[in-house]
Amino acid sequence: MKSGIMKFTLNNKTAPQIDTECLVIGIFEDSPLQGSAAAVDRASDGALQKLVESGDIDTNWKHTTLLHGLAGVAAKRILVMGCGEPEKFGPVRFDTVCAKAGALLRDHAASEAHSCLHEMETGTRDADWRLRQSAVALDRANYKYTATKAPKAHDHDPLASLSFSAGDDMQAALVEAKGIAKGYICSRELGNLPPNICTPAYLANKAREIETAYENVSVEILKRKDMAKLKMSALLAVGQGSANGPRLIILTYKGTDDDSRPIVLVGKGITFDTGGISLKPGLHMEQMKFDMGGAASVIGAFEACADMQLPINLVTIVAAAENMPDGKAYRPGDVLTSMSGQTIEVLNTDAEGRLVLCDAMTYSQRFNPAALIDVATLTGACVITLGHHASAVMSKHDDLAEELLESGQEAVDRGWRLPLWEDYQSQLKSTFADMKNVGGMPAGSITAGCFLSRYAKDQRWAHIDCAGSTWKWGGDEGSTGRPVGLLTHYLINQAR
Ligand code: BES
Ligand code: MN
Ligand code: ZN
Repeated sequence: MKSGIMKFTLNNKTAPQIDTECLVIGIFEDSPLQGSAAAVDRASDGALQKLVESGDIDTNWKHTTLLHGLAGVAAKRILVMGCGEPEKFGPVRFDTVCAKAGALLRDHAASEAHSCLHEMETGTRDADWRLRQSAVALDRANYKYTATKAPKAHDHDPLASLSFSAGDDMQAALVEAKGIAKGYICSRELGNLPPNICTPAYLANKAREIETAYENVSVEILKRKDMAKLKMSALLAVGQGSANGPRLIILTYKGTDDDSRPIVLVGKGITFDTGGISLKPGLHMEQMKFDMGGAASVIGAFEACADMQLPINLVTIVAAAENMPDGKAYRPGDVLTSMSGQTIEVLNTDAEGRLVLCDAMTYSQRFNPAALIDVATLTGACVITLGHHASAVMSKHDDLAEELLESGQEAVDRGWRLPLWEDYQSQLKSTFADMKNVGGMPAGSITAGCFLSRYAKDQRWAHIDCAGSTWKWGGDEGSTGRPVGLLTHYLINQAR
């Protein structure tokens, strides 16, 4: 069973004519049938409307009905998605309905389907947006983790292809959808892989695979020796307690003929975070395999960019290491001299993310970034603040913060801004070094951002804390791949 990477196609036949295993349509509550739903109703001699009136079709938001063998309609089945009140049907509800449809298709016998969901008006977004978003949401819901768990005999295969009712003029939206979907899958799969497989070296190999797949991509991998030459003592310290040595992974994508300044994405790639000598409690420690979620998302966004062949230059840097307690591990009290020359007193070895990032950020300066964006599962405080619904966005550059927040809205992969005021900086004061690596209990996500700001002094820089957004716990536990959506939309917007 191969998950994800569905084939997307366009089909401009009318809905009742489409010969598919499952036709997906949406219906608003207490509203006349529109578009494909109206066409299906006409072709079936009013059967659809009757089912709505009898209550057999539930038009409440997120409620669903599966119809079989409707006379006059070529499709074997029709999946009717309730869309609720049209006034409340914004982009977020739209995305939820598409994801729900995808989940149902995923667990159903159908091997292909046809979606008309992009016909459902959302008030603020146009048809191209709706087509792209529906394709990405349906594809994301089609994903199932199988790398280390074989599917059961009764499990259905995921959808192999999905078609949409639209003309060729919407092809571009579908090409973007394919790139974004690919990025999400890449990120999710990396996030879900166990830490004994997904090591720093594994991430480096993934980058090499991407290099092989695209002509205008090149990769460079730095190991301990190379890092020592560059004086990356902070990154080295975090990795020094592990047998799985650290890697600095640099992926370069050239999408323009000129040497225009690249966008640089930096990802935190802690493939497992035990906390080090400041050991974490045992309960839920296994979740710290997601501590490379930032790295996964910047690699995913990079792959999406290469897949779409966006006309921009992009560099993705991953600071990959494993944070382990060991006889060689770094310890509280250590003072590290970062690549920038600034010294750091380690008060807690569990605040390791900022240590690997600071050296990667200093390294990034050689690329003269047009914008530098780091993405990291940096703080538990971020999960407390925003839960699993939003990434925290921090920047002293209002325009950059706005661009990222807008991209998050477009992707329905939202961010929310936190301040980086000077006032918080004093929490990082140290008697023995230029700064401490922790800022105490108050505003933990912000003081982590403040720490990083000291390594991006003259840069147009933003920090995204994806600690809550990149993974979900509970029933459908696992990686979400986020914030690939936010990042890819940002890149697409830069290319326009
Ligand atoms: N990777 C964690 C942050 C994290 C915790 C992400 C829980 C998702 C869920 C990070 O390395 C960490 O341990 N941060 C510490 C910082 C503290 C020691 C200042 C934290 O948040 O407790
Ligand atoms: Mn930690
Ligand atoms: Zn961590």
